[in-house]
Amino acid sequence: MLDMPATRLLSDHNRFRSDVVEGLSRDQKTIPCRWLYDERGSDLFEEITRLEDYYPTRTETAILRARQRELRQFTGAGSILIEYGAGAGVKTELVLDALAEPQGYVPIDIAHEYLFQTAHRMERRFRSLWVRPVERDFMSAFEMPTDMPAGRRVGFFPGSTIGNLNAADAEGFLSQMLRHVGPDGAAIVGVDLVKEVETLLRAYDDSEGVTARFNLNLLARINHELGGDFRLDRFQHVARWNDAERSVEMHLLSLTDQWASIGQRRFHFHEGETIHTESSRKYDREGFGALAERAGWRVSRAWEDNKRMFCVFGLSPRARRG
Ligand code: AVI
Repeated sequence: MLDMPATRLLSDHNRFRSDVVEGLSRDQKTIPCRWLYDERGSDLFEEITRLEDYYPTRTETAILRARQRELRQFTGAGSILIEYGAGAGVKTELVLDALAEPQGYVPIDIAHEYLFQTAHRMERRFRSLWVRPVERDFMSAFEMPTDMPAGRRVGFFPGSTIGNLNAADAEGFLSQMLRHVGPDGAAIVGVDLVKEVETLLRAYDDSEGVTARFNLNLLARINHELGGDFRLDRFQHVARWNDAERSVEMHLLSLTDQWASIGQRRFHFHEGETIHTESSRKYDREGFGALAERAGWRVSRAWEDNKRMFCVFGLSPRARRG
């Protein structure tokens, strides 16, 4: 059964409400980007990954396809793939294909249905694979299943999702991944690179308007899940480059001076004021290498496409045994 426990649903709902109310009470109104992904938001994100303007997904997939032999050499035979976020079916298959005789696959995701679908798909595709889905928010503290087969553990974090984390969270995430794979483990991390601002902004404000719908869907979600009365036609999606943070930011810009309510709480918006809904940080090789080092890793491999848009890093523990 794919039903969610009632307590989980309730605590998710309460957390959504408190994140929104707290975030809209700040000077720079802000809502954490994790709330962009309800069912409609996840579908819209899938649509984004297929857009011409959104280059990261196809570029990373092409790198993984082109570098299968190197990936195999890097990870060695008989490893166990631990994937943080279980949405990337095509990329998962490419990496499992690349690994020589993989023994296990541990997808981790809070989205129950997605998680079990991916797990079943991999079970069917790789018949002798030990598959154990872990239903957790990969940013929370948790342990690996205790009955994992022996073998080298390889963390996999594709899609430049690391870019959606601030510096402290990114370091915390990489440290936990190191703890999960242990001193003999490895990691494969996909990272979007800094490039001309025009290309970046096009990727986050595409000509087909899918990213705009993805961003505005957050207000629709607030309306139907939290009883809000946001007028979607009075907000506009904008993508901005933040040079100091090296990130593309998504905002929802208020087109008029207006009020919106969530239950008893009322929020005022000046014309031109924005709600910050996502940061997507871009790295260069040095910057990502320094972050990885702070978390106890070193960069062993860096595979880029020939236009240097995206990089797949192969990481090894700095204090590797032997
Ligand atoms: C999931 N994440 C890596 C995407 C990104 O590029 O930051 C989310 C996204 N937001 C707008 N377009 C895509």
